[in-house]
Amino acid sequence: MIHLLRQFDPTTPPPETGGGVEQWTPRCSSSCFASTGRSLVAFLVDTLGLSSDHTCLIPAYVPEGVVQPLRMSGIRVDFYRVDHRLFADPERLSRQVEKDPSVRLVVLIHPFGFEQPVRPIRDMLSGRGIAILEDCAQALLSRTEDGTTLGQEGDFSLFSLNKFLPVPDGAVLQSHCRGTSVDCGQLARGPEGWRESILAYEEHLRLNHALLTSTSPDRRLLEETGEAYERYYSFVNRELGLSAPSDVTLDRLRRLAPGAMAEARRRNCALLYAGLKQTTFRFVYPQWDDRTVPMAVPVRVRPEERERIADRLFERNILLSTLVDKWNFIPPGRESAFPAESEFMASHLLVPVNEFLSSEEMEYMVATMNQI
Ligand SMILES: Cc1ncc(COP(=O)(O)O)c(C=O)c1O
Repeated sequence: MIHLLRQFDPTTPPPETGGGVEQWTPRCSSSCFASTGRSLVAFLVDTLGLSSDHTCLIPAYVPEGVVQPLRMSGIRVDFYRVDHRLFADPERLSRQVEKDPSVRLVVLIHPFGFEQPVRPIRDMLSGRGIAILEDCAQALLSRTEDGTTLGQEGDFSLFSLNKFLPVPDGAVLQSHCRGTSVDCGQLARGPEGWRESILAYEEHLRLNHALLTSTSPDRRLLEETGEAYERYYSFVNRELGLSAPSDVTLDRLRRLAPGAMAEARRRNCALLYAGLKQTTFRFVYPQWDDRTVPMAVPVRVRPEERERIADRLFERNILLSTLVDKWNFIPPGRESAFPAESEFMASHLLVPVNEFLSSEEMEYMVATMNQI
């Protein structure tokens, strides 16, 4: 089955050139390599000395892994509106920070790996004592115009490895702000239950591989892999203290070749963008260029048709996912204040372009989508 769930194939031979985490820490003045992105969000709030007197602005379409640590660390959380591309609007954001002098931190997400313009927002916030955290969790392999990783414009940047790589954990926080070090040194292992959570994620990766190689739609496998994933997250959501990345991740990072992964994703993106007729599906990002290496490519369909389309594709062994569960933080009753977010949640489907999909599989998927 074609899908976007990370999977690890233990039979893959190690590449000649290993990865290592160093490639995601260029140009920064300090960094911290920990087990989860959420623990690093909590760590950043703590490092900046932020409390209930201060506010962090985040989008309302945002992962639990950002909201939860902010709320638990005691800082006030407020939401800014995004546009139809899920990007912040600098003018609107400017009015919001003018009205609220307690704002100290703004989180900007590069959605699905598509680069959100950070510079206009940085210029607008300059001199106001407000830091920017660039959330690059979905943009691990995307590049800026000068060829470096995203995340170099803000004061801080966050990467979470298991959104892209077949590893159970691992996340990096970088500081570009000379005045604030996020160096956390060598971290200790996680607390009780941590090893089991890593094993649960490994089970998730194994089941994803079984799903990938299954030649007929298998809802049972899909449920099982979802359960393993939940076991991992129920642990990491409770444990927001910093701990070291697992040995499995450290070992696998040396065996993965991110350059080759990015190249295969680019090829798959090129096939999708060249082949998909924009009738039933419309790209959320109409332009794609090869600096962008997406986690998945979001498309819009008519909300009332989404379930039927997804079911018909599932019968043809293609799984298009949605990202709503654990991402919908629109304050209840304020849906009309966040129209683009609500519309996106109701209409999107995520098209996989993962490196483990061959050109033939991509072509089959595109042709099938064109016939729906
Ligand atoms: C965009 C984004 N940022 C941050 C996080 C948190 O990262 P982690 O899962 O490593 O805690 C997530 C997790 O879902 C995410 O999707």
